[in-house]
Amino acid sequence: MEFRIGENITIVTEDIEYLLNMAKNKKVLVLYPLKLENLSYYFMVENFLRLGIKDGESGKGIKNYEMILRKLISNDFQKNDIIIGIGGGSLLDLAGFVGSTYKRGMILINVPTTLLAMVDASFGGKNAINFMGIKNVIGTFYHPSAIYLNFSYLNSVDEKHILSGMGEIIKYAATLDKNLFKYIDKNSENIIKKDLNVLRKLVYRSLYLKYSIIKKDAIGKNNLRDILNAGHTLGHAYESITGYRIPHGIAVAYGLIDECKILSFLGYTDYSICLEIERIFSKIGIRKNKKFVAGKIYSFIENDKKINGEYIRIPAITEPGRAEILNLKRRDLRNAIYESGSFR
Ligand SMILES: NC(=O)c1ccc[n+]([C@@H]2O[C@H](COP(=O)([O-])OP(=O)(O)OC[C@H]3O[C@@H](n4cnc5c(N)ncnc54)[C@H](O)[C@@H]3O)[C@@H](O)[C@H]2O)c1
Repeated sequence: MEFRIGENITIVTEDIEYLLNMAKNKKVLVLYPLKLENLSYYFMVENFLRLGIKDGESGKGIKNYEMILRKLISNDFQKNDIIIGIGGGSLLDLAGFVGSTYKRGMILINVPTTLLAMVDASFGGKNAINFMGIKNVIGTFYHPSAIYLNFSYLNSVDEKHILSGMGEIIKYAATLDKNLFKYIDKNSENIIKKDLNVLRKLVYRSLYLKYSIIKKDAIGKNNLRDILNAGHTLGHAYESITGYRIPHGIAVAYGLIDECKILSFLGYTDYSICLEIERIFSKIGIRKNKKFVAGKIYSFIENDKKINGEYIRIPAITEPGRAEILNLKRRDLRNAIYESGSFR
């Protein structure tokens, strides 16, 4: 499978030989999560330099960035050498940030090992690190040359992080693909059981759906990419308010449900759609039992990147598999947060 975005080509492959061939006659630095060295097994190749990195949000920062740069410089890496990031979204965001900035960009290969990283963080060009406690505050747009998919990585991913990946997959389904929505509904048992054939189908379909958007809006210039932000306005608020204890995709799932209810309260969407989204999440095991405090949520949203003057851009799901971007008055959003009953 191959994705073309502007001048960039990203090859998606399950063939390890293809990657090893890419690496011939090049220097290679392999980054992997310190606590999960076994994930780098396929890349234990003579001559490849290796570096274990603390992953998660706390690892995605300046300290690790500097450590990796030092490794590259002291080993005389050049632009056409390779950096391979193996891990969840946090490690891939960091590897991508290094890969895009070192000598203004070297060859980047992503090896996603969580479901969320497979369907979202590995592809689309966004890379970032956290700084001064602010998530993703320094970042770049830079595409990987290749993504290596190996679904056996999912065997060791815990249930919480499989559900987190499902948050993003159901976002794609709810906003872009009603057949995917139906497929998830039908196959919920197999998803819960981590049937790798079913997860494989979900990953490829999700990557394709993400591609269908970003090929038209590579760096978010014409706002088409906003559709991918469904659930993220509230989701980011939930992640931040809970100190990132809720995994990203589960926060997005909660966000999808609550954004739908708010937009239904304002008359932009039908409440039955929100119940349908809530039902499918519940069926695979994502249930939101907690109500957040309206004031805290709204003050977080006030700083959202999608705010433009008196308005905020927010996707509304108009039926399962279809969404449109609304330019919502901030005042209306505020009222709905306080009055819709979704918050306390
Ligand atoms: N760049 C993008 O487009 C994009 C999109 C979505 C999310 N993100 C970023 O991705 C991050 C979240 O990614 P994530 O959910 O993968 O979290 P993560 O990277 O923190 O990984 C979650 C946990 O799973 C562990 N893990 C990874 N692979 C494993 C495996 N195969 N078996 C067992 N454990 C494994 C990790 O060590 C970690 O403890 C956030 O920082 C978010 O901002 C980026």
